[in-house]
Amino acid sequence: MAVLETIRNFFVPAFPAEPDVIVPAPFCDYEVRPLTIDHLQEALRLNIRCFRNGDNYTKHTFEYLLNEARTLSYRMVTPAGEMVGFAFVMVNENNAAHLTTIGVAPEHRRRKIAVKLLKHVEGSLRKRGIGTVMLEVRVSNTTAQDLYRTLGYTIVQRIGKYYNNGEDCFLMMKALW
Ligand SMILES: CC(C)(COP(=O)(O)OP(=O)(O)OC[C@H]1O[C@@H](n2cnc3c(N)ncnc32)[C@H](O)[C@@H]1OP(=O)(O)O)[C@@H](O)C(=O)NCCC(=O)NCCS
Repeated sequence: MAVLETIRNFFVPAFPAEPDVIVPAPFCDYEVRPLTIDHLQEALRLNIRCFRNGDNYTKHTFEYLLNEARTLSYRMVTPAGEMVGFAFVMVNENNAAHLTTIGVAPEHRRRKIAVKLLKHVEGSLRKRGIGTVMLEVRVSNTTAQDLYRTLGYTIVQRIGKYYNNGEDCFLMMKALW
């Protein structure tokens, strides 16, 4: 649970909003690439756009994650090299992985970008001999819960008042083999 506590403290208060009407981006091919400290500013900008509810990480947290050897981080890019999605996972002391954050730009959603990012993450973890992935998700975030269920994650616990606003989370897990 120490990791859960750490992750909870990553969040910052709610951020100014995205326009209400999102115009879908033109369709294109997407590619998964590593996300490194060189992409910090772009990741921060995308992060703010993905999480309108305050679950966006601070610059400090991103710097910490990107400099931490136990973190695997990937971005999804367009042919022009624009980052339109990201996923971060941390391997904890028990050799289980913790999905710390995932986000996709609003105008690129519903194109399996999150699925592809998560499958890529899972493949990287398997290669490292990691057998379990866990994550927390707001009980109200049914979109993300649907995504995780699609990929075989199941709810194993409900944790009361996990978020700063008092909302509970579901702890979801998946065995990678
Ligand atoms: C959750 C999120 C990452 C999904 O990204 P995405 O690239 O649009 O998701 P995908 O296209 O890969 O969706 C895969 C499946 O997830 C589910 N899903 C995704 N978006 C959904 C939505 N708006 N409503 C219902 N189900 C949804 C569906 O089952 C979908 O499959 P389908 O399109 O064949 O029905 C994205 O909505 C996002 O960035 N949300 C804000 C940040 C966030 O909540 N992150 C998770 C924190 S725990």
